[in-house]
Amino acid sequence: MTWRFEFYETLGSTSDLLKEKAEAGAQEKLAIQAFAQTSGRGTRGRSWVDPGGNLAISLLFRPEKSTDFLAAIPFLTALSLYETARQFSSGEADFMLKWPNDLLLSERKMAGVLIEAGGSADHKWVVVGIGANLRQAPQIEGRKLSALSEVAVVPDPAVFGRSLTLQMDHWISIWEAQGFAPIREAWLERAHPVGRHLAVQRGETYISGSFSGLDEQGRLFLALPNGETIPVVTGDILLD
Ligand code: BTN
Repeated sequence: MTWRFEFYETLGSTSDLLKEKAEAGAQEKLAIQAFAQTSGRGTRGRSWVDPGGNLAISLLFRPEKSTDFLAAIPFLTALSLYETARQFSSGEADFMLKWPNDLLLSERKMAGVLIEAGGSADHKWVVVGIGANLRQAPQIEGRKLSALSEVAVVPDPAVFGRSLTLQMDHWISIWEAQGFAPIREAWLERAHPVGRHLAVQRGETYISGSFSGLDEQGRLFLALPNGETIPVVTGDILLD
């Protein structure tokens, strides 16, 4: 099945509309894209500011084995974002993935992913919402953000969105044929290097350590100064 696209000038949130359509029985591979959003949502209940002309797209999947898919999809999406951004920019652009699915440009966040799942046992849905600063990074105090325009002639968001869905198809087909191992390798080649100093948010505090790898479920391993290594399943990561 090929992707079907719906474009809107302005929406509250592309993910909110796609979730409604998923609940109403929409078939998978529906993509909803908006030129601007008025109430874009980010991870952990944060808002996603979208001034217009950037990428705001949500993709509908109906996976058969939803637990395996949910573990893999952050990394499949991150790889797709990385490769799509690379395709439109000059070779010198300094892109890097940050666990699990942020795309950084020059160490500042250029794109993020919000993954939501629901539905009944025999009719599950997964909505992958992707926001990328193409034309401009919003000015938010205390946030280090970047935009693709720093390293590229900015493509039409619809063109970027279409390329992104082709990349998704590519990485999903590798995952379906060969499992998570090649996805993990590809992600590690594009992410912060092993040994990079990280801090993981735990409530109000941060645990500092260094990145020591990723397991087959996509958990991050953090090596602590006391020699212990701990798995991280969820949480914000800060790069020092
Ligand atoms: C993050 O916090 O890093 C995730 C941001 C996800 C934003 C995108 S924009 C398209 C989709 N619609 C939303 O309301 N959120 C996601």
